[in-house]
Amino acid sequence: MARELTVEEQAALTSGAGLWQTKPIESAAIAALTLTDGPHGVRLAAGARDMLTGRKATCFPPAVATASTWDPTLLRRMGEALGDEARSMGVAVLLGPGINLKRSPLGGRDFEYFSEDPLLTGVLATEWVRGLQSRGVGASLKHFAVNSQETDRMRISADVDERTLREMYLRAFQRVVTRGRPWTVMAAYNKINGVYATQSRWLLTQVLRGEWGFDGLVMSDWGAVADRCAAVAAGLDLTMPGPADTGDAELVAAVRGGTLDPALLATAAGRMLTLVERAASRQPGEFDVDAHHELAREIAGRAVVLLKNKGGLLPLPVEGQSVAVLGEFARTPRYQGGGSSQITPTRLDDALTAITAATSAPVRFAPGYKVDGLRIRRSRGAGRGAGRGAGRGAGGRGAGGDANGPDTAEALLAEAVELAAASDVALVFAGSAGETEGADRDSIDLLAAHLELIERVAAVNPRTVVVLSNGAVVRTTPWDAAVPAVVEGWLLGQAGGSAIADVLFGRVNPSGRLAETIPLRLADHPSYLDFPGRTGMCATARAFTWDTGASTPASRRWRTRSGSACRTRRSSTARRAPRPPAPGSTCGYRSPTPATGTAARWSRCTSACPVRECAVRRVSSRLSPASRYPPARPSTCGCASTGTTWPIGTPGWAAGSSRAASTTAPSAPPRGTCDRPRWSTSRATTPGCR
Ligand code: BGC
Repeated sequence: MARELTVEEQAALTSGAGLWQTKPIESAAIAALTLTDGPHGVRLAAGARDMLTGRKATCFPPAVATASTWDPTLLRRMGEALGDEARSMGVAVLLGPGINLKRSPLGGRDFEYFSEDPLLTGVLATEWVRGLQSRGVGASLKHFAVNSQETDRMRISADVDERTLREMYLRAFQRVVTRGRPWTVMAAYNKINGVYATQSRWLLTQVLRGEWGFDGLVMSDWGAVADRCAAVAAGLDLTMPGPADTGDAELVAAVRGGTLDPALLATAAGRMLTLVERAASRQPGEFDVDAHHELAREIAGRAVVLLKNKGGLLPLPVEGQSVAVLGEFARTPRYQGGGSSQITPTRLDDALTAITAATSAPVRFAPGYKVDGLRIRRSRGAGRGAGRGAGRGAGGRGAGGDANGPDTAEALLAEAVELAAASDVALVFAGSAGETEGADRDSIDLLAAHLELIERVAAVNPRTVVVLSNGAVVRTTPWDAAVPAVVEGWLLGQAGGSAIADVLFGRVNPSGRLAETIPLRLADHPSYLDFPGRTGMCATARAFTWDTGASTPASRRWRTRSGSACRTRRSSTARRAPRPPAPGSTCGYRSPTPATGTAARWSRCTSACPVRECAVRRVSSRLSPASRYPPARPSTCGCASTGTTWPIGTPGWAAGSSRAASTTAPSAPPRGTCDRPRWSTSRATTPGCR
């Protein structure tokens, strides 16, 4: 069939028509398909140009939580429910699951990924895919591959030796591809060993199709294609998003000019036709909003991990013990991370309301700290009824209410401490903030105000329970020693508030188990020295972390890691305290972060390698990831996608506004100057690696 299409039609089929649609070919009766995010809900854009807001859909717990259930059956049921919602909205492919390994607890998208363990990831994701596809909706396994960081993700090269790659980073993909048989796979933004994933024939054709027998379609991540011809030649079938008319024309010209094998283009178009045929079998349907909310609640309850319960403090009795609910997160839940997976929920449960409903004893609330953008309301002295009202009303940011409450940090703390001292049990809601696509985290510590709240409350009430909300692991030492109970509540989706109450009052036995390690401190994590790598270079290369190095024993600082192809220090340096290389050296390094923590920057790199020129780019503020893209000045390397906007990390992303920036990425370098395959090169000759 694809061969009956003209070359122009074939080329047209290999790119999108818009942000979320593929191209129809009316003359050949080929329908357009709708593809949308994923993975823990259906984020169908309200309008064709809408990047972030979606129609209402059930926000199920993100993968950071579902992985803690260790329950493939639950994941299958979640996949089925997602399939029902997707088909009710006319969606052909749901962009998920995300199955990259959590290489570091700092990974900005760790909340969207399952685990640091490829087997657990593979087992759970396979059931998710089977459930979804049982409803006639295709999955898109992403991000293939080694997209385990957000920093510079559009041009970083994840350098991994083949054994580590196959046994760790590709293993979950292999399992899901061979057992779950997803209709599509999404190729990642980054390079792997110097070659863009979207242009890697080894990855997309030799391994994925040749070795694993994948028979579906490979699409690009949004804006991940730098060279259409190279991508099609590598085995990439669909470039998203569209329109990409210039690229289509390049394909036609390449076929006509003899530089692209016509059979490759026909094959890509043929795979698109197969996807259209698969999607045609989908039956329209409705979904039960209430039933899906209940399923989200069940999954959330099963995902909660009881980290500590000294003296059997939990579960709490449903009567007879007054409860102080402390911390704004109880009223304004953190229930999902930021970026492309952000769902507009059908409803939102908060823990304060659910706790108030769960017990007949007095429940009183104090916010304890501020959450940015939220107007704090006074609730001191509020009884049961008032507590309930406070919980519901504050679900929306800046919702009405009494604005006369304390507003300085100290006053908020003092109010919470007073309530804690006067109650039988103190529940402190604490956590992290800002886990989002487009930026990695800087720390695994709880927010400072939350730490202080825990400390001060624990000092006045020995029956203090800490309930955590975080998208990636947070350090629990040393504060956990001061409290008898700690409940890990992750990001639990729209029904998380009710699920937390279910666990606290014993309606649900917290049977979740950790799917990732909680380091005692960041410096103990194996990725500490390598994450996120040098800008524009190797994800596994040595990163000089002078700002935090002080707490690391010198003997550990230069430890090399299996999987790193870039080792910049010999073992003899292990006994010496490290010093930063001189500016202008060929290494590139991050200068010490000033005590005020504002500007980190990369040194000038004098290497001739055009890739390394990326290191010239200044990162204006580590604390404001949104400002990282586009580069302050165009990199001379041009490793980013061409002819398209920077689709991610643009200002406003974290805040939820459109990420379609007006800045155009730098043009691509001449072929061969940037994408140096380094698969078989030895360490000694690898550009940039000494
Ligand atoms: C993300 C993908 C997502 C796509 C479409 C990209 O920025 O990396 O996970 O599916 O956008 O929103």
